[in-house]
Amino acid sequence: MNLHWMTPNERSIALYRRHAAGYDASAARTMVLRRRVIGLLALQPGEVVLDVGAGTGLSYEPLLQAVGPAGRVLAFEQSPEMFDRAAERVARQGWANVWHVQASAEAVQLPAAPDALLFNYVHDITRTPEALANLVRQARPGARIAVCGMKFFPWWTGPLNLLAWAKNRPYNARAAELWQPWSLLEPLCSDWQRTSIHAGMGYIAWGRLKGRP
Ligand SMILES: C[S@@+](CC[C@H](N)C(=O)[O-])C[C@H]1O[C@@H](n2cnc3c(N)ncnc32)[C@H](O)[C@@H]1O
Repeated sequence: MNLHWMTPNERSIALYRRHAAGYDASAARTMVLRRRVIGLLALQPGEVVLDVGAGTGLSYEPLLQAVGPAGRVLAFEQSPEMFDRAAERVARQGWANVWHVQASAEAVQLPAAPDALLFNYVHDITRTPEALANLVRQARPGARIAVCGMKFFPWWTGPLNLLAWAKNRPYNARAAELWQPWSLLEPLCSDWQRTSIHAGMGYIAWGRLKGRP
């Protein structure tokens, strides 16, 4: 089916069907950033952390190190090809305290309320109110969140944003929504802080969920 006629979820699944095989190699240079964002969650041994849109599970290992053997990593991922790789990773490593499912952010049902939620490069989820509502509803009130993603450069850089859009289009169903990609998440949080990365073409933000809507 033509990508234009699909729902955003169908489009994202189709895009990641193309990317899954080469994903880990292409993501290697951003592992430092993934670890930095995980650090912002200030995880404690024994806590439950949710990896939102976990992809191939690249964040599982640092998350497991942070919550320790008494903690738990929960995760979900809607793309079958990405999730298969995450499942292979867990089986290969024999991690017993990872719970993960192939499911969308809009529909996933968690087995426990997370103390912290990680949004590493999940632009389409951060731009979907139904997805955020489903996750916030199941999180512990006051849960810590940390997010990183791409954004447009400031408007006065003009044509540079064509580059930003072109870089995002192969991955994101909502690639045009890059002016303030955090704008749905920020009102759900207190103690919100944000900083620019990638010379202005990305951002990191963190805060605490206010509570259930
Ligand atoms: C750029 S990848 C990031 C994966 C992982 N968080 C990481 O840091 O490598 C974005 C992921 O979000 C997933 N995704 C997009 N929309 C989703 C949705 N509505 N529900 C669940 N997963 C979704 C995609 O399938 C993809 O694997």
